[in-house]
Amino acid sequence: MSSVEVRTERPEPTTSLIPTLPGTHYTDPAVFELEQQRIFQRRWFASARSSDLPAAGDFRNVEVGGESVLIVRGRDGALRAFLNVCRHRGARLCVAGSGTVRRNLQCPYHAWTYGLDGSLVAAPNLASMADVDRKEYGLIDVALQEWLGTVWVCLADEPPSFAETVQGAVAARLGGTDVIDGWDIDTLAVGKRITYDVKANWKLIVENFMECYHCATIHPELTEVLPEFAEGYAAQYFVGHGAEFGEEISGFTVDGSAGFGTLSGVDGSHDRRYYAITVNPQVFVNLVPDHVIFHRMYPLAVDRTVVECDWLYPQEVLDSGADLTRSVDLFHRVNLQDFDACERCQPAMSSRAYAAGGVLVPSEHHIGEFRDWVVTAIAD
Ligand code: FES
Ligand code: FE
Repeated sequence: MSSVEVRTERPEPTTSLIPTLPGTHYTDPAVFELEQQRIFQRRWFASARSSDLPAAGDFRNVEVGGESVLIVRGRDGALRAFLNVCRHRGARLCVAGSGTVRRNLQCPYHAWTYGLDGSLVAAPNLASMADVDRKEYGLIDVALQEWLGTVWVCLADEPPSFAETVQGAVAARLGGTDVIDGWDIDTLAVGKRITYDVKANWKLIVENFMECYHCATIHPELTEVLPEFAEGYAAQYFVGHGAEFGEEISGFTVDGSAGFGTLSGVDGSHDRRYYAITVNPQVFVNLVPDHVIFHRMYPLAVDRTVVECDWLYPQEVLDSGADLTRSVDLFHRVNLQDFDACERCQPAMSSRAYAAGGVLVPSEHHIGEFRDWVVTAIAD
């Protein structure tokens, strides 16, 4: 267990400027380890897209809370998750990030063999499997849920309520889940995936995503499409409010030109709007009339975070051979601009100038709420 001292009190603002976390929270490996244990090993974690594993034997290997988690599609069509550790002598079962196995999962060390449901199927040189409990020596299960076409896993022995902590978080941002239901995200297909390897602490990325104070400075294309963002307010935190497209804007594209048809379930009141949602600790979702942008973050080190971003469209749009470039380019540029800003901050987190942290202006108050959420989560 880490011996790091965790600041648990909420600093009282002395002006309208609200204190941030101190710099060490972005640089100290002991704080990162504590977050791994108390946040990422305890919360539901969006680990993959269900469609990444379409067929029996397909697997994905993801790092969650410092553990390697293996997600596998079984012969019964169900997805299951396991710790990626052989029960014999602890070898990693799969080192590839993804792939397909024909029948079973076989450890490359001494060839213990597991079924796709995790049970031990065979072990060489055992006189008989009859006296070996296949479940007892099977792979360790990790809790798994699917929602929004996404595979969420939780390493906790007793996971928190998915309805409250994941679906409830979305509902709180949108005034219910009816709005997001209209996008039928589980039916959409990945039109484009871009993986960003960001040299910044995961909290800098969350904090960046939560505010729009920076939009006028670093997002020229986005503020062209969503003029209210030029004023610096984070629209996602006005419950049920979507940022409206500018009058001259036809679609959510890099040049404001028309996108694709509005998704069939999206009602007319959302037709020219953009919604942004965060689900603590590592998901950001953007809803626009004709597609969805879904970010999953993988915090790998105190100063390194991989962000996997999917652009999701109806299968018909992809089948039509439509050119996605202008559609994808808008948020790809936003991502590059945001991650560049995060990487600019990361080296300065260890400066004595930031030892006591920085400040938030009033429109960034929800970053203060995120800070309090993190402090509370790592304190117990
Ligand atoms: Fe896996 Fe020995 S460590 S079979
Ligand atoms: Fe941004």
